[in-house]
Amino acid sequence: MTDMPTLKPERPFFSSGPTAKFPGWSASNLKTEALGRSHRSAVGKARLKYAIDLSRELLGVPDDYLVGIMPGSDTGALECAMWTMLGARPATVAAWESFGNVWIQDAVKQLKLPDLQVLDADYGEIPDLTQIPQGNDVVFTWNGTTSGAKIANTDWLEQGREGLAVNDATSAVFAQEMDWAKLDATTYSWQKVMGSEAQHGMLVLSPKAVKRIESYDPAWPLPKLFRLKKGDKLNRAIFEGATINTPSLLATEDYILALEWAKSIGGRKAMFERADANAKIVTDWIEATPWMRNMVADPAQRTNTGVCMVFQGDWYESLSAEDQVGVPKKIAAMLDEHDVGYDFNGYRDAPPSLRIWCGGTVEQEDLKRLLPWIEWAYESLRNQ
Ligand SMILES: Cc1ncc(COP(=O)(O)O)c(C=O)c1O
Repeated sequence: MTDMPTLKPERPFFSSGPTAKFPGWSASNLKTEALGRSHRSAVGKARLKYAIDLSRELLGVPDDYLVGIMPGSDTGALECAMWTMLGARPATVAAWESFGNVWIQDAVKQLKLPDLQVLDADYGEIPDLTQIPQGNDVVFTWNGTTSGAKIANTDWLEQGREGLAVNDATSAVFAQEMDWAKLDATTYSWQKVMGSEAQHGMLVLSPKAVKRIESYDPAWPLPKLFRLKKGDKLNRAIFEGATINTPSLLATEDYILALEWAKSIGGRKAMFERADANAKIVTDWIEATPWMRNMVADPAQRTNTGVCMVFQGDWYESLSAEDQVGVPKKIAAMLDEHDVGYDFNGYRDAPPSLRIWCGGTVEQEDLKRLLPWIEWAYESLRNQ
């Protein structure tokens, strides 16, 4: 029987979104000058523009790309890209977990795209992306948050391809390098890798995407929240901080604070290194634990953010399907009760699993302290 560990993580925050705040975060450090002011005032617009400029700088977004703050978090930004740009050419939607499957449903049931290729794969796998014609617009999820599978590279996107590449990068930016030259519309939300307050989505557009928006009007109606055009032209003010509707300036301040922290520790490279080192602790432990298996078989496709793991072995396999679902649920509940680890049960639509967030705002020591507790909880369940 494994003894109950004594050391607890200092910050037991392992949720895959909203994720942990950065080390040292405090609400008292939020700037408040813009709060209670109009988002169209000089001070409001300046803070929104600063959030855009810092995002651009930290992510290494090319100068001729546009970066905007959108309503509706990542979903809002991604669906805005789909609704405003798709339909002009044949399209592919490629998915390998729950969120990508939502974008498939959008394309099939909502937009009813006539010339559509759907490429999907089970949790833990990535479909054969080389099947995507270079003339097709493609929508994909860079890093599948609910399966832990990421694309290994962008070799399947040819430089200068005719179709647009629409990239849901919400659990990858600030943890993995984006290949901007091949990406036309990239989206993410603040509560993921930066651990900021949820509210807004970011939309990063290439010149090719701008050209599509200015030369094409989709057949379907566009709600105001998706309207990026003023007359025939892109409304560039949106990408300077003049958001479509009223943003949360409090959430904006929180995002700025996280960006400033990331800059102070060395920018995105430091964030990548932190996520890599964190994920290594968890993936090495999975390899060394006989009753655990990484949900993703191919090491090149394993994420460094939301690492997902499933159970295996005689005891687990002897359980009914219902009892198997109970294993990660009970482990997560036991550790929650001891204030050792919060919110790390696998996603509700994924196979029974644990999912431990390893992004750059998490500390290595906290992960090292969490893992023996999982061993203890598992052994406790097994010996019940
Ligand atoms: C890959 C991916 N896409 C989309 C979403 C939805 O994001 P939001 O809640 O910011 O709209 C999530 C949220 O976890 C996600 O992980």
